[in-house]
Amino acid sequence: MEQAFGKVILLGEHAVVYGRPAIAAALPRGATARAEAEPAGPLLAVPAWGALVGPADSSDLGRAFSAVLGWLGAGEARCRVVAQPSIPAGGGLGCSAAVGVAVARALGAFLGRPLDVGEASAAGLAWERVIHGNPSGIDNAVAAGGGVGVYRRGQPLRQISLGLTVGLAIGDTGTRGSTRAMVESVARQRERRPEAVEKLLDAIGALVESGVAALERGHLRVLGQHLDLNQALLASLLVSTAEIEELCAIARGAGAFGAKLTGGGGGGSVIAVAERPNEIVQAWSSQGYAGFAVELGCQ
Ligand code: MEV
Repeated sequence: MEQAFGKVILLGEHAVVYGRPAIAAALPRGATARAEAEPAGPLLAVPAWGALVGPADSSDLGRAFSAVLGWLGAGEARCRVVAQPSIPAGGGLGCSAAVGVAVARALGAFLGRPLDVGEASAAGLAWERVIHGNPSGIDNAVAAGGGVGVYRRGQPLRQISLGLTVGLAIGDTGTRGSTRAMVESVARQRERRPEAVEKLLDAIGALVESGVAALERGHLRVLGQHLDLNQALLASLLVSTAEIEELCAIARGAGAFGAKLTGGGGGGSVIAVAERPNEIVQAWSSQGYAGFAVELGCQ
């Protein structure tokens, strides 16, 4: 069984599409995939999505599968890949990239050519280009490499060592966002008012730079303030929603150091940095929102 990680973006989404840095952390869950012999192959099944496609299928999934097969030179592979995501699609947690990377790894293993991290990430990027249009490459880099790191478009993920364990609560707005739609919306705003949007992107990039220092030194309170500021800038880019703002407010009211959307926005998930992230999850739960807590450990 091949695996890939889901992710949260701690700081820097959207700006990372335009060359600014972002900080991402892998989640313990993501996606798995395995490939088995199938004379009618290549085929891809994702039972959780009720999907079975081949590379000639015109759906996004079929075209993404075709892109990965093309990257691997595996268009004739007589196999069926079965992929199993363990995070919600459209939840901002990197589900699509995790499935793409797991599928690429399963194909590589079937062909007797296991992929290294860089290859798995590159094959995942080919997949993401179909699904998301203009991906920065951060989701596939974390899906393949894991850990906590700083990413810049076109460069490998640079792992960072944390000054202490970071408790993170991850809450689900219950609404789904389309990363493609949100990335396209920011692109349109950037065309319409380039100066204002470039300033917002620069401000996010600067927050990421100082956020790295806060993470490395283990200053959770400062990191939390960075999340709040980043959320305000993301709201200015019009990728926040009423539910996202509500989850952030609940988290702050329950003692979080800071909270923000994570991923594309327009729905999906919120993250909150807290000393006791389980208390944030409980506060969300008492208002009808699902969530879970993770610890990003000392590395
Ligand atoms: C999606 O997880 C993060 C975005 O910055 C898009 C990307 O970087 O490809 C919104």
